[in-house]
Amino acid sequence: MNAGKIIGLVLIAAAFAGGLFVGRDRQSAPVITAGSGGSAYGGGFTAVDNQLTVAGNVKAVAGPPMSDVVVVVKAGESIQDAVRAAAPGTTIQVMPGTYSETVYIDKDGIRLIGVIEKGKRAVLDGQGSLNDAILYSGNNVVIENFTITRYKGNGIMSQAGNNWEIRNNIIVDTGVYGIFPQLGQNGVVEHNIVSGIEDAAIYVGMSDNIHVAYNDVFDSVAGIEIENSRHAIVESNRVYNNTGGILAFITPGLPIKTTYDVIIRNNFVFSNNHANFGAPGSTVSGIPAGTGILVMAADDVVIEGNIIKDNKNAGIVITDHYHAANVTIDPESDPYSDGVKILNNTMTNNGWEAIPDIRALMLTEFKTGNPDIVRVGPTKDSCIINRHRYITVGLEDFKECEFTHTASTANYLLPTVPPRQIDPGERGKIAYLGVCTGCHTYGGRMIGPPVQAIQALYHDNPEGIANYIANPERKRDNYPEMPPQDYLDEETRLAVARYMLKVKS
Ligand code: HEC
Repeated sequence: MNAGKIIGLVLIAAAFAGGLFVGRDRQSAPVITAGSGGSAYGGGFTAVDNQLTVAGNVKAVAGPPMSDVVVVVKAGESIQDAVRAAAPGTTIQVMPGTYSETVYIDKDGIRLIGVIEKGKRAVLDGQGSLNDAILYSGNNVVIENFTITRYKGNGIMSQAGNNWEIRNNIIVDTGVYGIFPQLGQNGVVEHNIVSGIEDAAIYVGMSDNIHVAYNDVFDSVAGIEIENSRHAIVESNRVYNNTGGILAFITPGLPIKTTYDVIIRNNFVFSNNHANFGAPGSTVSGIPAGTGILVMAADDVVIEGNIIKDNKNAGIVITDHYHAANVTIDPESDPYSDGVKILNNTMTNNGWEAIPDIRALMLTEFKTGNPDIVRVGPTKDSCIINRHRYITVGLEDFKECEFTHTASTANYLLPTVPPRQIDPGERGKIAYLGVCTGCHTYGGRMIGPPVQAIQALYHDNPEGIANYIANPERKRDNYPEMPPQDYLDEETRLAVARYMLKVKS
């Protein structure tokens, strides 16, 4: 994740297409748009089946269980052993107790369900030494009701699986990412409690048709991130005491180049003022504390019905790749945030400690007070209603929106989609996209060093990479340790190494 980069926010006055607005008649009555009635914005997507939402709850996208087989794992037994023995389609119930292991699921239809008895849960405890709690690459996977704590890498991470449901988990003090689905289509992340995460608590990467709802996300560096993903709704979450609250953006250099059609609505986004505790040198370590919602280079993002308050830098920041530090411009990614739509939101008491660059921008517009909404860099086709309510910077060329709500879009989910077919020849690519790009990008520094630098070191030596990733050792003082990837089998390790040496962007 790399939202962090907005930091540097090298804001220069000249970047302001809006220009100065001296002499405008400030006494004229504002245009007031009612929050109810009016027309709906449907986004760029016609949901095939909006009936997936019933009374505000999302129905299953993983489809019904694939078989009646239920396996029960009791305290003292190994969840991974049960997964290894299970046929695709098995439901695995895990009884309350403490389990210290990494669970790796590479088959379809597995439902890994913690059993909660009188408040006691199945606890996955990494004891501060294991890297990941649950990693999966199957389709139609359901992960429910676990408590996950003290892992160093990921709580729940998926790669290239479609139709997932991650629900009712409590993830505390767990490494780099709390819930991290990547490269999948049709997924639900709901009713989870996620806190104390060094990077992003909920991080949706390179995915499509996503619903992130009713989660409680706090005490992390980044709360909820929608990165290089399309057709995502983030709604009814409580996001507080993070460094940055909700982020929709494009990280350049990844194989999927766009983020668009994101609806961020009806969330409570407050007091995201946590001191930044991102890994030193990581990109998130630069997010300015106090950023409520951040949009960077993402298109057609709707921000509606949120309560955004007490975020000390700004309530909403809209920016582009050129104003972000450490971002290598990717010629295949549009660096600007176009089509941002700010509908009615309740905003109060934001921006009292806006970073100096934002303050400087305010001066160029002769704005006083504390900024609710800040936009830097050019944007096309963006709009807002009731702008008079907020202290804004850089919104002069935002038009008046022609709609007031998104009620016609219940969600962007689909009826269960077919599994992604992975050809054995694609293994290296999938593992690369699914695992390595979580920490490595082609040209820039992420959690790990740039792939370009790795290619220079290992150009004709894929075996060297395959060995290193099974058992990494400390190489660089200015990077964290790389977690071992020994859950990937030998063949996949070599395939991913070959792929890493081949990629060109
Ligand atoms: C959780 C983050 C993370 C993930 C996931 C990750 N890496 Fe790394 N990687 C790192 C970090 C951090 C370093 C730098 C370690 C150091 O220099 O001590 C690194 C370094 C490396 C190096 C350099 C080794 C050297 O000799 O200098 C290679 C090769 C590498 N990673 C390959 C991979 C591959 C292949 C994958 C995917 C299967 C991968 N990494 C996934 C974080 C990660």
